[in-house]
Amino acid sequence: MEKVLIIGASGHGKVVAEAIELNEEYSIHGFIDSFKPVGEKVLDYEILGTEDLISQLYDQGITRGVIAIGDNWTRFSLVEKIKRLVPDFEFITVIHPSAIISKTVTIGKGSVILASATLNAEAKVGEFCILNTGVNFGHESKINDYSSLAPGVTVGGNVIIDTFSAICLGANIIHSIHIGMHSIVGAGALVNKDVENFRLAYGVPAKEIKEISVGEKYLSGKWKKQKVSL
Ligand SMILES: CC(C)(COP(=O)(O)OP(=O)(O)OC[C@H]1O[C@@H](n2cnc3c(N)ncnc32)[C@H](O)[C@@H]1OP(=O)(O)O)[C@@H](O)C(=O)NCCC(=O)NCCS
Repeated sequence: MEKVLIIGASGHGKVVAEAIELNEEYSIHGFIDSFKPVGEKVLDYEILGTEDLISQLYDQGITRGVIAIGDNWTRFSLVEKIKRLVPDFEFITVIHPSAIISKTVTIGKGSVILASATLNAEAKVGEFCILNTGVNFGHESKINDYSSLAPGVTVGGNVIIDTFSAICLGANIIHSIHIGMHSIVGAGALVNKDVENFRLAYGVPAKEIKEISVGEKYLSGKWKKQKVSL
């Protein structure tokens, strides 16, 4: 099996690692992480170094990997950095074997679809998206590059979620809604009206709470105060 790197050794990195193991398509060479000490074990794999090591590993034949970073803007920044450092490095798509995916669905490179996600007819997933555990993604809906659906999110049919938007834990979005770019839909929200670009919205029904800026953090509460591992 071809060896791959997992870039990001947080909890999300562990979940991605287990999905890769179950697929038996790639073997995991190790983790790349900007904060954790080299040599530390994460599951059965070592932290090999920071992203600056990828070029050396590429020369040794490790030419592919996946970014396992939950925060959308951080994931984007790291992809851009790796593209500059190692232009030919390839990003794999990881799909947990328990995901139920219509044959008419398209999924872009670098995206991660986790356990029990269901993707219905003609849904489209852009590049470097995360569809987390138990997501239900409706027919003909579209999620653009670098956006994410947290565990338990339900998206009705014909919904559009634009780039860099995060739909948080357990939110529900009814059919035909448009979520603008760089927006955040808070945990547990019920979205029954379009959400503009650069907005935080939450509640049942969801209301736009405030304007937000590029890269605003949404892994909130105690996570805000912690140094989140890349
Ligand atoms: C949207 C979100 C980022 C808002 O967090 P925040 O801006 O830090 O909000 P705060 O914690 O400062 O709360 C401010 C107020 O809004 C309320 N609030 C925050 N999020 C809310 C939500 N999703 N629904 C309803 N009320 C919410 C708080 O209870 C608080 O009310 P109070 O002032 O009456 O006490 C957060 O709710 C969220 O969804 N985080 C992401 C969780 C997630 O999906 N994790 C993924 C794990 S894989």
